[in-house]
Amino acid sequence: MKNILVIGAGGQIGSELVPYLRNIYGTNNVVAADIDRNKCKDLAEQGPFEEINALDGEGFTAVVKKHKIDTIYNLVALLSATGEKDPLLAWKINMGALTNSLNIAKDNGCAVFTPSSIGAFGDNTPKDNTPQDTIQRSSSTIYGVCKVSGELLSDYYFNRFGVDTRSVRFPGIISYVQLPGGGTTDYAVEIYYDAIRKGSFTSNIQAGTYMDMMYMPDALRAAVSVMEADPSKLIHRNSFNIASMSFEPEQIAAEIKKHIPNFTMDYKVDEVKQAIANSWPNKMDDSCAAAEWGWKAEYDLTSMTPDMLAKVKEKFDKGLIK
Ligand code: SER
Repeated sequence: MKNILVIGAGGQIGSELVPYLRNIYGTNNVVAADIDRNKCKDLAEQGPFEEINALDGEGFTAVVKKHKIDTIYNLVALLSATGEKDPLLAWKINMGALTNSLNIAKDNGCAVFTPSSIGAFGDNTPKDNTPQDTIQRSSSTIYGVCKVSGELLSDYYFNRFGVDTRSVRFPGIISYVQLPGGGTTDYAVEIYYDAIRKGSFTSNIQAGTYMDMMYMPDALRAAVSVMEADPSKLIHRNSFNIASMSFEPEQIAAEIKKHIPNFTMDYKVDEVKQAIANSWPNKMDDSCAAAEWGWKAEYDLTSMTPDMLAKVKEKFDKGLIK
């Protein structure tokens, strides 16, 4: 049986990963933690919760010891567009949470999952079928710098100290429970909300810009599967390309139009986000994840879209969103 700690539980991924893990491993074996209890009211009501600042090593250690934690899911991060507003803060938070997670894991015998991202690739990375092992000079965003550094540091802790570190490079994640916090791929979530709310959407990403995306259920399955994988089969650790769908704004709009025929889209490009999007892959090759731990996506754009629209509409009808 595992004793799991999810830090950064109040974010887009954590708010769904915690219930998913509790379902698999038992509610009492999954501790949600966040710097802000108010962001985690449901998670705190449903099971164990700790308010901790991931940068406070002592507080973090105390929680790991108190709950006899053996697995840490470190989800603390400022995303790509937010990071550019205060790069030093993004470095401090993203790397601070990771270095604490790794050190505390080393001292307490824990495994660590920290997501990497399409942001770990940069301008000179091959854009199509981006290989698992390729050029990663992602220096156009502080987010990318943190992701590349994080991958290296996590592999270092495995090689040097034997800490069981594993990771996946998440595409933009599309979900309806919690909004993402300031990423470049956020338009692919916002489009569903505006489609339900207004029947129209203004895209801040230019037509023709392809990025990898993934529906949350696949992302959750990936995070748990990589941690459950047979370690003797892992050639890679930090971090695996995973992929399920790649599209540009016109394609997601066309898919929505199949369900909302009057839906319209126009453009007002955000130059910061567009430059970031241009530096990222069009589509990653996920064959190593498939070969080493059986990764296979279940959703594509066509199967995700009606589900997203139905779930967002339900929130709208219940008055949970305006
Ligand atoms: N969704 C993230 C972002 O756009 C990428 O990992 O920042």
